[in-house]
Order: sequence, then structure tokens, then C-alpha cells
Amino acid sequence: MVKPDGVQRALVGDVISRLERKGFRLAALKLFQPDKALAEEHYKDLSSKPFFKDLVDYIISGPVVAMVWEGAGVVKSARKLIGATNPLEAEPGTIRGDFAVQTGRNVVHGSDSPENGEREAALWFGNDVPIVDWQQVAAPWL
Ligand code: TYD
Repeated sequence: MVKPDGVQRALVGDVISRLERKGFRLAALKLFQPDKALAEEHYKDLSSKPFFKDLVDYIISGPVVAMVWEGAGVVKSARKLIGATNPLEAEPGTIRGDFAVQTGRNVVHGSDSPENGEREAALWFGNDVPIVDWQQVAAPWL
């Protein structure tokens, strides 16, 4: 997901481009402004953290771009492309390392396991996730 700061800063194209160029396949995409219930459910594992309220307020502050990406090892690899949670610790060349300085404004979210990816896709797109099952002509080269 491109978070509200990423959308405001016109980084959507760059985020998509990095995942595309790596060789992953975009399977679903939606621009919309999430409500509080959705943001709280998404981050429910962090509900006891002191930053939870600020995190939810930030996520619902504007439109986000929710996406489903597919491909070999996509969850782990996307986390590497995204970089460390604290952008000041994220390596240059990663999305957070290149574009952000604050943990609370770190541009993107990436699922941390395939199971959470499934859970989050259903949450953000609805249970009937509108996955587009298409073949990438370039796939044999990747
Ligand atoms: P987390 O799931 O730990 O990190 P990641 O997004 O890298 O998977 O935390 C979720 C989000 O919560 C994180 O992207 C930014 C926010 N956050 C804070 O605002 N302050 C903090 O101290 C932490 C750890 C996270």
C-alpha cells in the first residue's frame, strides 16, 4: 500500500515502478480513503502501542493506493525493496531509504507474511478480492 504521504508526494508511480521493474506482477489496485475501522483492524496487532492512535489518524488522513502484487518470493522481496520501518535506518536504494525520514511517515506498507498478505488483501479489497489473473509475456525472462 502507498500510504497517504506517498500519494500526496506523488510517489505512487515510483513505488509501482520499483515493484514492476523487479519482476513482480500487479494483480489488483485501488485508490481510496480508508475509514477508521479499516485502519484499526489492519493495525490491530499494534493497538496497545503508544503510537497506535497517531498511526490510525495518519492512515485515514487521505487516499491510499492498495495493491496486490504476485510473483516468486514477493512478500519477502517487497519488504527488502521497502526497507526498514525507520526510514533513517533504511538502506539507500530502498523506498523508505530514498524517500522518507520519519517512522510515522514512511510512505509504504508491505505485508510481512503471505498469510498476512491474504488477510490484508481481503480487508482492503473485500473478501472477493478482484485479482486479475493475467500472464506476463516477459515472465519467462525473469
Ligand atoms: P510495523 O508493522 O512494526 O512496521 P512495518 O510497517 O515496517 O511493517 O509498524 C507499522 C507501522 O507503524 C510503521 O510502518 C509505522 C508505524 N510505527 C510508528 O509510527 N512508530 C513506531 O515506533 C513503530 C515501530 C511503527
